[in-house]
Amino acid sequence: MNTMLQPQSTPATGGLKPEWRIGAGGVPYARYTSAAFAQLEAERFWLKVWQMACRLDQIPEAGSYTVYDILDQSIVLVRVDADTVKAYRNACPHRATALATGSGRFQLGAITCPFHGWKWDLAGNCTHLPGRDEFAGGCLRDEEVALREVHVRVWAGSVYISLAREPEPFEAMMAPIAELVDGVRMADMRFYWHIQVRVNANWKVTQEAFMEAYHVFQTHPQLINGVSPEEAGKLYTYQTFEHGHGLFQSGGVNAIGRVPLERMRTMTQDQQTDTLVRMLTSLEGGQDAQVHVDDVEIARSMRHRTLPEGALVGLEFQKVLREHYAAKGRAIGSFEALAKVTDMHIFPHVTFLPMLGNLLMYRSRPTPENDPDWCIFDMYALRTYADGQAPPPWETRYPEGDLSKGKNWYLIPSQDFGSILRQQQGMHTLAGGSSVLAGHQESIILNMHQHLDRYLEEEPD
Ligand code: FES
Ligand SMILES: [Fe+2]
Repeated sequence: MNTMLQPQSTPATGGLKPEWRIGAGGVPYARYTSAAFAQLEAERFWLKVWQMACRLDQIPEAGSYTVYDILDQSIVLVRVDADTVKAYRNACPHRATALATGSGRFQLGAITCPFHGWKWDLAGNCTHLPGRDEFAGGCLRDEEVALREVHVRVWAGSVYISLAREPEPFEAMMAPIAELVDGVRMADMRFYWHIQVRVNANWKVTQEAFMEAYHVFQTHPQLINGVSPEEAGKLYTYQTFEHGHGLFQSGGVNAIGRVPLERMRTMTQDQQTDTLVRMLTSLEGGQDAQVHVDDVEIARSMRHRTLPEGALVGLEFQKVLREHYAAKGRAIGSFEALAKVTDMHIFPHVTFLPMLGNLLMYRSRPTPENDPDWCIFDMYALRTYADGQAPPPWETRYPEGDLSKGKNWYLIPSQDFGSILRQQQGMHTLAGGSSVLAGHQESIILNMHQHLDRYLEEEPD
């Protein structure tokens, strides 16, 4: 614990107590463990902020729906037609019965309450109300019985909602990162797999585990690929944005092999190929999301290809990969776009790691009980598909058992979760203390908390 990072003596304003205030470069542990802080987040933040509710391909056709819960609020996302998605409070205007659970399809375009059978069309208008004359002296107005809409936007293939009366303008919030997200083709990506787990850690602890590569050297030794700690520290450039977003990028280094270009230049074609294959194999076997078996096979073939004089295997590989998939009608995005985004945090609760044509995305949020020591965590593997190739139907897996054991799901997230679970415990042990954040490599974490505080300092709606 760093004693320089004790809570400041600034008086509390807007409900943010002095012991919750961010110190000089460190974040108080109470922000992750205190029920009162979680309550402040619930009132001032989660019930206002734009948040990712689902992927568009969870509601693929007119009538499809999926339910998104945030704290004790339940929202049902409905595909009205090819271009329209609506979000409703998942509660009947009659006596509040939840209208839907899980995911599915409203038959014949009608949303039906299971209790007394009121019905609505997909646009939320009440179309059937048995004994209507009996209500409000026969003067029930249509708007009183319409479904309660909440703000919704579709962006980069994801559906976002806000429960605020007047949310922050969505486009302005996403503007700083829109171009970078477009570059990795997230909007074109479809379901590959989806995992959801309940995690014994605060939603911010879980999310922050994916906001820096500083931990890779210790946590994921199989991903080091011969890089020294000094080199590892210089592999990525970190950048923070307005509205709480952040990214790290490989820029001029080899985004695929994760080895500095200067080092790659000293290696033979075989050595470079081995380095590349080692990294891709670790990713493929360790999470089956950013890299797939076909990509590894193409990487292996680089050993036998005739390359232009002085060409780097990693850079030539992505050209071969692009041509291979282009012949099948599959777009995989550009290397230039990938070089700009190795890992991006979208405020407040999504982080994604793109690769060529594939992507791994994480989302975390508080539980319905708002217990600060628990969160709901989602992992999404997304990818582009070839022309005429359909993604499998959306299916969610729920791994059980110890999340820090790779046999229960994948090696790479199990390594992350080994630390995530211990970190939440340790924050209780050092109650009253603060983290000590690296100025550059952990800057995305600090930026996220600073933007969170802008909400926490505002009065609730
Ligand atoms: S509670 Fe829904 S129709 Fe009565
Ligand atoms: Fe990790």
